[in-house]
Amino acid sequence: MLIAPSLLSCDFSIFKDEIIRADKAGADLMHLDIMDGHFVPNLTFGAPVIKKLRPHTDKPFDVHLMISEPHRYIGDFAAAGADIISFHTESDSDIDATLRLIEEHGVRPALAVKPGTDPAVVLPYLDRLYMVLVMTVEPGFGGQSFMPDMMEKVRYLKSEIAARGLSTLVEVDGGICNDTIAVAAEAGVDICVAGTAVFGPPDAKEAIDRLKELCQKN
Ligand code: DX5
Ligand code: ZN
Repeated sequence: MLIAPSLLSCDFSIFKDEIIRADKAGADLMHLDIMDGHFVPNLTFGAPVIKKLRPHTDKPFDVHLMISEPHRYIGDFAAAGADIISFHTESDSDIDATLRLIEEHGVRPALAVKPGTDPAVVLPYLDRLYMVLVMTVEPGFGGQSFMPDMMEKVRYLKSEIAARGLSTLVEVDGGICNDTIAVAAEAGVDICVAGTAVFGPPDAKEAIDRLKELCQKN
């Protein structure tokens, strides 16, 4: 299991130090939540902030776009140093064209689905995707409760991926903590995003180690 700390739960007044702390704590990827106050009812930060953070860690930047018209910003996020860009199937951009833009910028493409979305919507694109992001809370805020029903989507996607001989990864985002990560691991999740669970406790390394350990017991 890979752990992608969501920087949404870090102390933004010391953003650089927090990303260094997550790196040293054993983060596998850095999950960066971009919200526009329109696609979701919250605002975070944009590509200029990511560009400033980029030199402070070598870990991959997993950029989760929760924005309308994501196609308009792909170039900016690619130039800022994104390694993976996920955008929502529910957004108003053309999926095929936006994936193509991400591919053209040499970034790994991913599609994200909200809890109410049928995961079948990603199937026509599966062979082009580095990752599928299955939301396990309604996007917009950290600290919400994990929706275990979403594991059915994970199993469905993992079986499609296996049947087609692909290596597409499945990521879950929202409510991952010591009580829920084993359920995600058991369903076959490859990457767990964790905000509150990593940045809440005083020792982020201990938190990440514990999350990983809980995935091994089944
Ligand atoms: C929610 C974000 C998540 C969120 C996860 O819209 O996409 O990445 O920060 O936070 P926790 O782990 O606290 O649920
Ligand atoms: Zn996210």
